[in-house]
Order: sequence, then structure tokens, then C-alpha cells
Amino acid sequence: MQQKRDHWHPFRLKTVLPAGLLFAFVVALLFFEHLRPHNSSQSPRIPGSLESPAIRVVTTPDSLVQYGYKLLNYTASFIGPNVSDTAMRFAGNNLACVNCHLQSGRKLFSAPFIDVTHRYPKFMGRANGLVTIEQRINGCMQRSMNGKPLPVSSREMKAIVAYFQSASKDNQQIKTPTGTGFLSLNLPDRAADLEHGNAVFKDKCVQCHGINGSGLLRSATDSSMGYIFPPLWGPDSFNQGAGMHRVITAARFIKGNMPFGTKYDHPQLTDAEAYDVAAYINDQPRPDLPGKSHDYPDLTKKPIDCPYPPYADTLSQQQHQFGPFVMKHNLSQARHSD
Ligand code: HEC
Ligand code: HEC
Repeated sequence: MQQKRDHWHPFRLKTVLPAGLLFAFVVALLFFEHLRPHNSSQSPRIPGSLESPAIRVVTTPDSLVQYGYKLLNYTASFIGPNVSDTAMRFAGNNLACVNCHLQSGRKLFSAPFIDVTHRYPKFMGRANGLVTIEQRINGCMQRSMNGKPLPVSSREMKAIVAYFQSASKDNQQIKTPTGTGFLSLNLPDRAADLEHGNAVFKDKCVQCHGINGSGLLRSATDSSMGYIFPPLWGPDSFNQGAGMHRVITAARFIKGNMPFGTKYDHPQLTDAEAYDVAAYINDQPRPDLPGKSHDYPDLTKKPIDCPYPPYADTLSQQQHQFGPFVMKHNLSQARHSD
């Protein structure tokens, strides 16, 4: 028995080893080919670059992950309010998910999607219950995108979740997530100063977002191409129920990410500038969200900077919108509640 195997073994190694190596090589090639679409998303997207689904030649059907990547980056081209297939008009504005979740949801402290599927289901005060990842996505669909929920069984929903899963696997941070949500902020011990906010806006934001806050479309004639610079207010912006419509949340996003190109470990605005400019933006008109007064069925879980009533405390709506935020230490409540 022993002899037989000794005799047989070297012969087998000679044929099996090269075949095995070849097999491993092919597997590795396929693996990296599979990673390619979302690997390329790691480099920052250049706003306004000509890369657009409309000019891409599609030869093979997209994988779910590839479709998810496109939906997040070119949201308006697939599910925007002006797409030709009216059944696909889920979003109510021409923003892209990545306008707030920067670098295809991979930039730290811009509410990144890295490992996000592992964070759900989770409790959210706004619903006063456990929220699935699909419900969380639809939270942004109905508020940030001012639209309708995507059906949970739709290819679009499955594609976004598949992209989220792919953005988690290859990342070292799975065990110790850092960079989730937004940077924290030391709130000035005063109400936001709208005049100062206006001055900051004119100095540091207007060149891209425009004096009317209406941003810059990629194409003047086809808004489904989305924005080079997204609007900060007005009819095509996020609605009044969105997380970005809370002053503390917006200030924390702005601190880590704006002006465009800001690195989270090197903010360009002081905390006071971020706070005041967030309030200035917050003071401008934007679409309403009917029924928003039913958010947070347990009012004690309503974040301090939620700009719409009812409230559990006696502070005025004005104070909830613009501060001063007396419970300012309670930032944990202001996180993850969009
Ligand atoms: C150099 C151009 C530029 C400047 C200056 C700039 N932004 Fe932006 N801003 C962008 C771009 C581009 C995006 C979308 C990011 C993306 O899609 O990758 C964005 C996104 C945003 C968003 C989230 C998306 C939305 O539509 O609400 C907010 C809020 C925002 N900027 C606020 C500001 C504020 C406040 C300032 C000034 C302190 C500022 N930005 C300065 C280019 C700029
Ligand atoms: C106008 C800005 C904006 C746009 C556009 C936007 N979101 Fe969000 N999103 C937010 C904010 C703000 C949060 C809350 C982050 C926090 O609380 O830390 C959030 C949170 C999320 C979360 C939960 C993240 C976490 O770590 O728990 C998911 C998932 C998400 N958004 C998906 C999407 C998808 C998908 C789209 C496009 C269909 C989208 N968002 C468009 C602003 C936006």
C-alpha cells in the first residue's frame, strides 16, 4: 500500500501541480476582473466628467454590483424624475446618492457604505423600531431624493444592496469601523448666525453651488444627466424631512467634506463656519415632506436639531432649527437618524 502510493505520488504531482497553478491563476484573474468595477470607484469621481451611462457602450448585461454602482453614481439617469420610462421615476429630484455619500460611498465621514449592511437592521428613533437596510435606503429615497420607495424585490434595490455588500467585503475596517456617519462638531454656545452663514456661503460655496443654491446640471437640456454641482436648496433639492435638513447633521457633513476636495482629517472650515453656513442653507426654501410630523412616534427620541414639530420639550421650533442647542452633548442622538 505504502509502496504503491510512493510510486504513484510523484507522477501525480508533476501533472497536478502545473494544472493547479493554472487553475489558481485563472481564478485570480476572474476574481480581480470581478472586483474591477468597484475598485475603479475608489478613485474620486471627477465632477462633471463625461463618463455617463448614456455614452457607454454596454456589451454584456451588468452584474448586480455593477448596476448598483451606476445607480448610486448616476441615480437621475436610471430612477430620476425625468427618465423616459415613467414607471422608473422613483426619485423626485435629480441628485445622485453619491452627492452626499462621496466617492461612491467610500469616503470616510461622508456616511460611507463600507460595511453598512452589517449595521442593519438597527433601531432608529424616526421609525421607533428596527429598520432594515432596504428601509434605510428608502428613507433616503423619500427624503434626500424627495421620491418614492423602491420596491424591496426590485432589481434596483437588490443592486444597491449588492453594491453595499461588495463595499464591505474587501475592506479591512469590518471589525473596527471608523469613519461611519460624519465628523463630530463642537457646537458654538449660541444660536447659528445666519448673516455669518451667508458670508461663508458667498466666500466658500457660491462658486460651485451658485448664488441661488441651484447648482449646475451636467446638461442644460437633460436634467436626467444629473449635476456637476448639486443644488443645496430649491425644488430639485432634498426635502424638509431629510437628514441634511438638520443643522447639526449638515454642519458635520460640511465640516468633513466641503468645499469639495476637503479631507476629513484636514477640515477647511472652523466648526462655527460649518454651523453657520449649514443654518444659512437650512433657512432656504425646499420641498416639503407631507406627514413628517408623524416621524419619531416617541418624541423623546427626536433629535434636538429636528426642524419640525411636535417636540417633547418646550423649546421653540426656531430654537430646534437654529439653536442654541442646550442638549448639545447628546450628539449620539443626532447620528444615524436621517
Ligand atoms: C469646488 C466646488 C465646490 C465647492 C466650493 C463647494 N462644494 Fe459642496 N459639493 C460639490 C460637489 C461636486 C458635490 C457633490 C459631491 C459628489 O457628487 O462627489 C457637493 C455636495 C454638497 C452637499 C451635499 C449634496 C447636496 O446637494 O446637498 C452639500 C450640503 C454641500 N456640497 C455644501 C457645500 C457648502 C456649504 C460649501 C461651502 C462651504 C460647499 N458645498 C462648497 C462642490 C463644491
Ligand atoms: C442630500 C444628501 C443625501 C442623498 C442625496 C442621499 N443620502 Fe443617504 N444619507 C444622508 C444622510 C444625512 C444620512 C445619515 C447619516 C448619519 O446619520 O450619520 C444618510 C444615510 C444613509 C444610509 C445609512 C448609512 C449608515 O451608515 O447607517 C444609507 C444606507 C443611505 N443613506 C443610502 C442612500 C442611497 C441609496 C441614496 C440614493 C438613492 C442616498 N442615500 C442619497 C444623506 C443623503
